[in-house]
Amino acid sequence: MTLELLEAQAKACTACRLKEGRTQVVFGEGNPDARLMFVGEGPGEEEDKTGRPFVGKAGQLLNRILEAAGIPREEVYITNIVKCRPPQNRAPLPDEAKICTEKWLLKQIELVAPQIIVPLGAVAAEFFLGEKVPITKVRGKWHEWHGIKVFPMFHPAYLLRNPSRAPGSPKHLTWMDIQEVKRALESLPPKEGRPVKAVSQEPLF
Ligand code: URA
Repeated sequence: MTLELLEAQAKACTACRLKEGRTQVVFGEGNPDARLMFVGEGPGEEEDKTGRPFVGKAGQLLNRILEAAGIPREEVYITNIVKCRPPQNRAPLPDEAKICTEKWLLKQIELVAPQIIVPLGAVAAEFFLGEKVPITKVRGKWHEWHGIKVFPMFHPAYLLRNPSRAPGSPKHLTWMDIQEVKRALESLPPKEGRPVKAVSQEPLF
């Protein structure tokens, strides 16, 4: 299996109700061998139109955050919990997230084999932490998921709604967070092999 093949399959996905309102499946993009993967919530209007993740206003802010930290966007891999735009930009429903992550995200993670995953916002953080948790409590801390380091951050759309840069503000905290991610990236051992095995949310026995 390759990312290209997986993407071709995903483009034809009809596994959940989100197929009804989508223009395009937004599979994800970036370095297929990235050490760092960002996982957002789901495509918005611009993403649905263009077929690319994080290209709207929130995506442009994500680009500025990456640039400020000296992390080239093309070196990372960017995707979402669900690959099709939920109606009215609502949060993905639990069954949509479950179906989509099991069909696509878990396989993307296995193929890219990132060493660090940054969930953006509460919906993505919940997937990796396995429980509903306030993003304010879990962001900016290291967690682990199937042997992969996980470092949740605020969703850039949340930063757009909270523009203050004062100490302790979401933007200020995000600036601290992305610098921590950059430091962690620099101290990683060289990426070799494929340490990540297929992962399942369900018991395998
Ligand atoms: N918000 C997300 O969570 N993902 C995108 O791709 C765009 C906006």
